[in-house]
Order: sequence, then structure tokens, then C-alpha cells
Amino acid sequence: MFADYDGIRDWFVRYAHTFDLSVPMIQMKYGHSFDVMKVGEKLAGALAWSPADAAVGVSACLLHDTGRFSQYRDFGTYYDGSSVDHGERGYEILSAEFPRALTDDEGREALFQAVRWHNKKTLPELEVRVAPFCRLTRDGDKLDVFALVDRRIREGTVGDLLPRHMPDAPLSEALLDEVERTWSGTYKNASSLRDFLLIQLTWVLDINFAPALRMLEDSGVLQRIRSRFPKDDARVQALLTALFARFAEMTA
Ligand SMILES: [Fe+2]
Repeated sequence: MFADYDGIRDWFVRYAHTFDLSVPMIQMKYGHSFDVMKVGEKLAGALAWSPADAAVGVSACLLHDTGRFSQYRDFGTYYDGSSVDHGERGYEILSAEFPRALTDDEGREALFQAVRWHNKKTLPELEVRVAPFCRLTRDGDKLDVFALVDRRIREGTVGDLLPRHMPDAPLSEALLDEVERTWSGTYKNASSLRDFLLIQLTWVLDINFAPALRMLEDSGVLQRIRSRFPKDDARVQALLTALFARFAEMTA
């Protein structure tokens, strides 16, 4: 499997610059792409991937949000539910525009599938040669979104990042029901910042690689999120206790 990482990065930089990067929300996704790439580098290193596999995995991390740029230009939102599935859009853009010379056929397939499936609630049955790249991209993306939201909360600018999620509003009943029932949550049931944070906590259950889980725990972000829920709400605290018990099982 082959991917020309330097060439791919050059292509991505050129592609992104066809959009207005002076728009803060678009610049944010541009920065996120490189941050996910850096997480992907760390993960591929921790997993001792071969240089060839690492080049494909790290490239997939960089390209994962290719669909975000035209999504924001066309719809003015990153909410897929009211615009377009940005994983599918990224897949379509790459299929139409990504240069053949930058990968071999296997590398192309792995990159495209990783972009296509990075944002789906669950992964379908994937080819063995493709699946690890999809998993790496999903873990890298989740880890950077944890870091990004955490940073923005501390800087007091999370409202710009998550305009649909009201900072001081309570958890939604529908989301609590959903997470208690299914251990996962959907954005259509989420309206407050705490709703978003609860959905984030359920992402941990979907982390694929042990080093990703370790990096997440070492960052302290999970405990900071936990501290942002009301201490006097027994239902919420019981759910958090159950979730954190499941995290502990994953690392045991
Ligand atoms: Fe994404």
C-alpha cells in the first residue's frame, strides 16, 4: 500500500485554499485537519505501524474533513442533520478531484473509505485492508474534538464552536433516555452544551485503539467533562458512574 504523504499534504493545502480561510469557522476546520493529522502520527507511532501504513493512516487523518469546506460554504453550518453528510461529501470530492498519482489503488481505497466512514455512528463491515485506517481516523478525530471543545470551554469561546448547543441549558430528557438505553446519543436529541458533552463521553466506548484510550485518559479531559455535570442530579450521576465503570473495563 502506498501514499505520497508530502504530495497529499500539498494537494490538501491547495484544495483548502480554494475556500475563504479568513472565515473563522472555516479556518477552524483547516486547523483541526492538521491537529487530527498530528494525533494520527502519534497513534501510528504508538501502534508501531510500518512507514507505508502510517503514511496512509496519517493522510486519511489529514483528509478526513475534506467535505467540511464546501459544506460550510453551501449551508453555513456543520450540522449534518440540516445540510449534508460531510463524510459522504468528502468521499465525493476526493473521487472527483484527488490525483491518482498520489497513491496506489489500495491506498486510494483506504483513504477514501476512511474519509467516508469517519463520521458515521458505527462502522459497517469493512475490508480487512481498509478497516484499520478507518479506525485510526475515527480515533484521531475524536481525540482532537475532545481537546478542541475542552480548550474552547476554558477560553470561554465554546459558543462560537458549537452554536447549536446552549451553554447553561440542562440535559435533555430525550438524550438521557437514549444514552441510558443504547449507550450512545444522537445530535437530534441534543440542544445544550451538556448534551454535547454527554454524547462525547459515549464516544469513548467507540474508541478502537488502546493507545488512543490512554492518551484520552492521560489528558484529564474525561474528568473535566465529568465535573461539568450537576452534582445533585442523581439520575445523571448514576449514568456517569456507569459510563466511567465501562471506561475502566475497557482499559483493564
Ligand atoms: Fe468530520
